[in-house]
Amino acid sequence: MTTTTINGRPQALPDDPDALMIDVIRDGGLTGTKLVCGSGVCGACTVLLDGAPVVSCLLPAHAAGGKSLTTIEGICANGLHPVQKAFMAHDALQCGFCTPGFVVEATAFHDRWRATKGTATPSREEIAAALSGHLCRCGAYEGIFRAVAEVCAGRFDGNDPVPSRLEARDKVTGVARYTVDISHSGQFEGVILRAHLAHAKITGLDLAPARAIAGVAAAVSLLGEDNMVRFVGAPIAAVAARDRRTALKAIAAIRFRSEELPAVIGLDAARRDDAPVVFEKKGPQTRRQCVRGRRRCSGVVEGQCAWTLGAVLAEGETGERLASGGARGTQPASGGRDLPRLHAAARVPRAACRSGEVRRRSAHRARLHAGRS
Ligand code: FES
Ligand code: FES
Repeated sequence: MTTTTINGRPQALPDDPDALMIDVIRDGGLTGTKLVCGSGVCGACTVLLDGAPVVSCLLPAHAAGGKSLTTIEGICANGLHPVQKAFMAHDALQCGFCTPGFVVEATAFHDRWRATKGTATPSREEIAAALSGHLCRCGAYEGIFRAVAEVCAGRFDGNDPVPSRLEARDKVTGVARYTVDISHSGQFEGVILRAHLAHAKITGLDLAPARAIAGVAAAVSLLGEDNMVRFVGAPIAAVAARDRRTALKAIAAIRFRSEELPAVIGLDAARRDDAPVVFEKKGPQTRRQCVRGRRRCSGVVEGQCAWTLGAVLAEGETGERLASGGARGTQPASGGRDLPRLHAAARVPRAACRSGEVRRRSAHRARLHAGRS
């Protein structure tokens, strides 16, 4: 059996060649490392592998064999790292969901910087380059940049600062728990299959292969009666299964065909009279989706899925349909298939846990958990 070391403790690694390090870490209770995009774009899952920052959502577990891993919890094993103090002092966080990834990366940068440059202050460009693999939905960048500049200059080598927000310490150390960090007994995990096309009619959706997989509790369509998708990331189907791997396997097993329709990028293109029509009928609901003041609904704005997805999911489609398929959700949804774009809304799962009921829908690519209770 292969083993690795996580925060100084030996950890057996699964034999499964497809197992990912993020799952080993989080399943072992170290939930400070966050899974958001699952595709190496947002940086929330960053850990140190033999001292070098890596995204654990793309790291095969077996690749960590014989190596030493440090998560956000390990960064402060012997007290707060100066980077954590600086983040607290500069209020370099809001919701804190991206913070562990930023802190881990900034710690590696700080330690390298101090070893080679002493207490010189890095430029904004140097900090930006070091943190370029991280996204913060809340836009806490100004505080983050100030914190990294000052900590590299040695201004947080001393005592712990007084943070400007009460929960800052929990957030910079990975102790803060979010809905994705809560696991109920018998909980299912759900994944949503989302559209990779900006405008298309989905034909021949076949959920049977997903339902046939052992451990799958439900596979349901999320399409409306017209079977259309109108933005990249629009929900097509959802799966609830005993664990994430099974749910992802089931998502991959779903078969469908799509007839791609014209789409446009940008508001100017969407305002043109000959822009593709999104909704055939006018009405209060369709008008909300349109550019205000236009006489008809036209134009698919590719790349605007944060705004669009929020509007659609807020109307309750995902939760209600998933529940009607037999699963009961506690958390929000996830992009299960290739989604080429990433935007700020990818950072935070907006959800609340409540047994047996989906309470809110998610931002783009958050995850869905569903319980048997
Ligand atoms: S980079 Fe790993 S979750 Fe986003
Ligand atoms: S503080 Fe960065 S995503 Fe909220």
